[in-house]
Amino acid sequence: MALWNGGGGAFPAAAVLVAAAVAALLGAGVGATKFDDVVQPSWANDHMVYDGDLLKLRLDANSGGGFVSRSKFLYGKASADLKLVPGDSAGVVTAFYLSSAGDKHNEFDFEFLGNVTGEPYLVQTNLYIDGVGNREQRIDLWFDPTADFHTYAVLWNPSQVVFMVDDTPIRVYENRQNATVHGHHHRSNNATNASTSTASPPPFPGPQPMAVYSSIWNADDWATQGGRVKTDWSHAPFEATFREVRVDGCAWAANATDGDAGEVRRCSETSWGKEGRYWWKEKEMSELSVHQSHQLVWARAHHLVYDYCVDTDRFPVQPPECAGR
Ligand SMILES: *[C@@H]1O[C@H](CO)[C@@H](O)[C@H](O)[C@H]1NC(C)=O
Ligand SMILES: *[C@@H]1O[C@H](CO)[C@@H](O)[C@H](O)[C@H]1NC(C)=O
Ligand SMILES: *[C@@H]1O[C@H](CO)[C@@H](O)[C@H](O)[C@H]1NC(C)=O
Ligand SMILES: *[C@@H]1O[C@H](CO)[C@@H](O)[C@H](O)[C@H]1NC(C)=O
Ligand SMILES: *[C@@H]1O[C@H](CO)[C@@H](O)[C@H](O)[C@H]1NC(C)=O
Repeated sequence: MALWNGGGGAFPAAAVLVAAAVAALLGAGVGATKFDDVVQPSWANDHMVYDGDLLKLRLDANSGGGFVSRSKFLYGKASADLKLVPGDSAGVVTAFYLSSAGDKHNEFDFEFLGNVTGEPYLVQTNLYIDGVGNREQRIDLWFDPTADFHTYAVLWNPSQVVFMVDDTPIRVYENRQNATVHGHHHRSNNATNASTSTASPPPFPGPQPMAVYSSIWNADDWATQGGRVKTDWSHAPFEATFREVRVDGCAWAANATDGDAGEVRRCSETSWGKEGRYWWKEKEMSELSVHQSHQLVWARAHHLVYDYCVDTDRFPVQPPECAGR
């Protein structure tokens, strides 16, 4: 099975190449300013379109499109009020994600996998840590994501990364680097191997500043029903619509390099100066509340359709972060 092929990086390969080539022609809608403060086109500028108070990313036979936040940030929360491509969206992927730069980058992905009319979208999430991904999970949703706007968010602080849909946590990746690790949970029958292997603590994304991105592109080689259903271009253009994009985090100084120690300290320290400024690092943000834990259990019990943690074909040795989960 190659469900995840091509789904790893939320960077479409063509995006970088096309980015600089296409001339900017932004519609000057009413909503332009609201989005302009937060994001700018990252790719195929004319496929980022203002429509009144809304912002649309467009895919047609010529190109997809994308945007990137104007600032980078270290820790905080990024969210999008998003309505996905309606009708036949087979083969079309819309992504909302956070990513740092470089070979050892971290990345937290929402990828919305389109479908033929009337069949459900799947929401794939993934984390890259130090350049390594392969942590895909998939859920279906408890609503039609093409009928109205819903909020998709990632909260990131030194204790956890939380993916949320309308404030319901659907996935949590905890920092367990300080926890005692009792060893890999080997799923093979080879007891010798299992009992002699050494445990390593699960990795956690380090303090690299992230930008926030969204893009839409053609992924009909893998996205819909395993790549069997192709994009029907007679239904183009395909448009994902944003009502708002919010980034609430510790903004990285524009003149600082990614590794700037002073900026890491400023955004990581625990005495914050101004009260309430870094709310995403308050004690109650270090883990889910009891209510949220119940929501997470509910969402996973009813809507999880794929989890790399239990995919023993791909991972005969269970990834360390999956142990006990
Ligand atoms: C891990 O331990 C170090 C040293 O005690 C502490 O500073 C840090 O906050 C801990 N990290 C987490 C996520 O608990
Ligand atoms: C079990 O693992 C050990 C250590 O890797 C190896 O030497 C042995 O051949 C394996 N046994 C089987 C039945 O696969
Ligand atoms: C045995 O352990 C090694 C090292 O952790 C691992 O690469 C290998 O896949 C394991 N083999 C089995 C059968 O679990
Ligand atoms: C699309 O619909 C089919 C049929 O209901 C379903 O099996 C599949 O998981 C849906 N989503 C994707 C992305 O293929
Ligand atoms: C960035 O600009 C600020 C304010 O002008 C200055 O204090 C700081 O030293 C600069 N940092 C770097 C890395 O140039």
